[in-house]
Parts: sequence; C-alpha cells; structure tokens
Amino acid sequence: MKILLTGGAGFMGSNMIHYLLKTYADVEVVNFDNLTYAGNLENLRDVESDPRYSFIKGDIANAQDVERAVQGVDLIINYAAETHVDRSIMNPRSFVDTNIIGVFTLLEAVRKFNIPKMVQISTDEVYGAVLEGESEERDPFEPRSPYAASKASADLLCHSYAITFGTPVVVTHSCNFYGPHQFPEKMIPLFLCNLMEGKSVPVYGDGQQIREWIFTEDHCRAIDVIAQKGNIGEAYNIGTGYRVPNMEITKKLLALTSRDESLIEYVKDRAGHDRRYALSSQKLRNELGWKPLVNFDEGLERTVEWFKANEVWIGRCRSGAYQDYYDKQYSNR
Ligand code: DAU
Repeated sequence: MKILLTGGAGFMGSNMIHYLLKTYADVEVVNFDNLTYAGNLENLRDVESDPRYSFIKGDIANAQDVERAVQGVDLIINYAAETHVDRSIMNPRSFVDTNIIGVFTLLEAVRKFNIPKMVQISTDEVYGAVLEGESEERDPFEPRSPYAASKASADLLCHSYAITFGTPVVVTHSCNFYGPHQFPEKMIPLFLCNLMEGKSVPVYGDGQQIREWIFTEDHCRAIDVIAQKGNIGEAYNIGTGYRVPNMEITKKLLALTSRDESLIEYVKDRAGHDRRYALSSQKLRNELGWKPLVNFDEGLERTVEWFKANEVWIGRCRSGAYQDYYDKQYSNR
C-alpha cells in the first residue's frame, strides 16, 4: 500500500510515519511537507535511508504540488495544518490558506485521480467549549478561534464532498496530543523546555481550563484503524477520557523536572480561551474496537525522558536552525 502522508515532518505526522514503517513491512510512505516553522526533517533522520520512505517538499494548497504527489497513491492521511491557537489569533490568514484551501485542494485531487481513501485529521476544538458532558460526532460545530473555525470549515468541506461527489473521505476529531518531538510552542513541551532551563512557565488566566490528553502512540493506532475500517463520509472522535485542568499538568511537570511552584507565572489569558473540551469516543471504541493503551502519567514520563535526552533538538527547534538540515539534505535533489 502506498500512503501519501502530508505534514509528515511535524510532530504527529513524523510519529505516524515511524509507526507505519514499524508496523507494516509492505507499506510505502511518501512524506509531503512544506517545511514551515514546525516541520523538521530531523524527526525522520532514522528512516531516511529506508527504501519504503520518500520525501517531497510541497504545499497542500498548491494544486500542482499536490497533483505531482498523489499519483498512484492508495491512501492520503492529511496531517498538514497550522495548529497553534495563539498563532491563529496573531495571523489567521495562514490558517485559512493551509487548513481550508489546502484541504479543498486535496479533496479535488482525490476526486480527479480517484484516490481510494483520505483521512482528514481534525480536532475537538470544532465543537467549541463544552462546559458539561461530552461532544459527540453529530453535535453542531461552534468553533471559537480562527484555528478552530478553519478546521471546522475543512471538516464541512469533507462532509459535503462525501455527500455530493461520493469522495471517500473520513474525518477524525482528536483531543490534545503530547509526546516526543512535539514542537515547543504547545503547553506541555513549552513548559517542559522552560523548566529544564530553570525558566518560569506562563500559565494563562487561572490555569483551571480543562483539556483531554492522548499520547501520540495511541493516536497513531486510532488513525490506523480509522484508515482501515472507518466509514466513508463519517467522523470519529479520538479521546481518552483523561481530562484535567492545566494547573494539574503544570504541577506534574514541576515534579518531573524537580522544580518548585515559584516558577509558575500567571499571565494574561488567551483571547476567547475555551474553558473545557471533552470527547465521547464511544463510536471509535464500540464500532472499530480501538482503546488507548498508554496512561497519562506513563506517557508524560516517556515524554520528559525524551526531551531530557534531546537538548540539541530543542535548541535547534527554538533557534530555527534545523531548517539548515533541509538545505543540506534535499535542496540539490
Ligand atoms: O484540542 C486539540 C487541540 O489541542 C489541537 O487541535 C491543537 O492543534 C493544539 O494546539 C491543542 O490546542 P490547545 O490550545 O488546547 O493547546 P495548547 O498546548 O496551546 O494549550 C493547552 C492549554 O494550555 C490551553 O488551555 C492553553 C494553555 N496554555 C498554553 C500555552 C501555550 C497556557 O496556559 N500557557 C501557554 O503558554
């Protein structure tokens, strides 16, 4: 099977490439990535010489780039996205370009080249803040940030293409991911890197906002089962049920890095900050037989160990220096 995995140089995409190459001997994975600030080919250094892996630099919003890459592909998994809520508040435009026009461009290519299946990776944020209970797949979308609105728009496009054209697309709505290789702008890796350096951590507002967390490996297994068995035109929530206030995670990170609470710095809240997300993942569990295997504390310990062992990677991410890696490895090809 030949898989086009877009956004494969990012945190989740690169974890999925490792998962696929480890799990399936006969898989061929084409990593299609535009190498924006969060894309880092060093995440894939250990598989670069694997004959089952290849890389194409390209933009999902560019039809020529996409059409060059989709030929002969059996499955597209779209991880390519602008994902950081704070950046969407500062610069919404790139979120519209990549997250909406990019998905539209992929859907058109699926139609034109009769690609058998596409999996669109989306988020629980499309449902908006859920103060009580859990979001189900059929709940209405109420996105409250430009990021969430861009993902919701793309999900609606996928839904409409499945109905109107019979386009074989499945959408996933996941809770917050964490794990090795996560770019240090999201809460867990940012706080961890700051604490490792003895710096304070910027807690937004009162720190009592609730998020649901999934370890990257469990998310990879969910995408695998959805790619194989998920019904065309449908959506699947991916959640663990592990929901805690940000302050609880902050305190766990303080303990794992042997720091004290003097490093907690309460800062101005994020504009439009969603108070709570919570997903029902019964559909995925009951219909497709998935369940998470890594509990939060184990996943967090593994994440902390990885970051502690990869200070050079952190330094390069934070300085942007890993972009030189692309120039050295690929620019002459
Ligand atoms: O819910 C799934 C989503 O999770 C994904 O779709 C998004 O791509 C991903 O960015 C993430 O969104 P969040 O806004 O929940 O993640 P983030 O790590 O930015 O923030 C997690 C919580 O921590 C949130 O309540 C805001 C808070 N926070 C975040 C940062 C970066 C802080 O208190 N301080 C910070 O510096």
